[in-house]
Amino acid sequence: MRSMTEEGHAGERNTDARAARTAGMHLPVLTEEVLSFFEPAPGFRCLDATLGLGGHCEALLRKARAAGVRDVQVLGMDRDAESLALAQIRLESFAPAVHFRHSLFSECAGALAGLGWEGADFILADLGVSSLQLDCPERGFSMQADAPPDMRMDRSRGKSAAELINSLSTQDLRGIIRNRGEDPLAGRIAGAISAARDEGRIRSARDLAGVVAGAYPPGRRAAARRHPAVRTFQALRMTVNDELDELQSFLRAATGLLRPGGRLLVIAFHSLEDRAVKLFFREQAAGCRRPGAAQAHACGSAAALRILTGKPVRPGAAETSVNRRAASARLRVAERPGA
Ligand SMILES: C[S@@+](CC[C@H](N)C(=O)[O-])C[C@H]1O[C@@H](n2cnc3c(N)ncnc32)[C@H](O)[C@@H]1O
Repeated sequence: MRSMTEEGHAGERNTDARAARTAGMHLPVLTEEVLSFFEPAPGFRCLDATLGLGGHCEALLRKARAAGVRDVQVLGMDRDAESLALAQIRLESFAPAVHFRHSLFSECAGALAGLGWEGADFILADLGVSSLQLDCPERGFSMQADAPPDMRMDRSRGKSAAELINSLSTQDLRGIIRNRGEDPLAGRIAGAISAARDEGRIRSARDLAGVVAGAYPPGRRAAARRHPAVRTFQALRMTVNDELDELQSFLRAATGLLRPGGRLLVIAFHSLEDRAVKLFFREQAAGCRRPGAAQAHACGSAAALRILTGKPVRPGAAETSVNRRAASARLRVAERPGA
């Protein structure tokens, strides 16, 4: 049996979900769980490295307000100018507590320095794509899109997925689909994409999804739990946006920016991202990696992070029932020791 509080939260989330859908907005994932690690105090400085449409940011600022902590400030970053513009409208009532930056999250140290902040008490990265990006057909993220597969989060720079497909060898395509999509049929898929591209058959993201599905043997296609092109789309998107390198640079930069007691939260949506976060946290929590050191701090070097979530935090059934995208979300949290 669920407690009144649980039912209250589930009810709130259902209402939020309906409101977000009506407004065509992105529904933030694991919001209650993120908030449980947010303990605002006067002078708190937060970095929302993936502002998106501002859902998490709004929840943080509401919690700070409800707690009577008025001078919390947030730096909200996103590489997607369209998301930033919408977030700015959503967060108008919190001005001037929010500062907006159109940039990569790997550039967060410079962005903080630009505000004159020496560090941050709370840093959040909610990785992946937003509903805005997925639901906008001309951005070519969705397998149903009747537009060229673009997939750039920042449409002002870089090569689109369509350009990538047209310029890569079959061998390189196979490597991308195998390494970033972890698809065991990478060779067959890359061959099918190359042939279709040479015949001019990939004009839209939907065409691409069809070509990938066609590369699957019928039995495996029928048995697949997800559309056969999900992994290939993930692989191309990650390559187009350089997502794994960005994540590594961000984790290093963010760890260096944490004030004592400051927390770093990362929400990942697939195993490659989650593994990268887990390994990074472990490495930073070990502190001393001097060969032969018997214990973590034997050489006197302090660990940079203390891990607060042994296992990743996953969404509950109430959340996944209203937001399917949340199903694969995994939250990991670490803290800079020494508060
Ligand atoms: C899942 S959405 C974030 C949603 C947000 N938490 C909310 O509540 O609305 C991820 C966002 O991160 C942005 N993003 C992804 N990689 C980024 C990077 N390397 N630098 C900056 N922004 C990035 C995307 O453009 C997208 O808007």
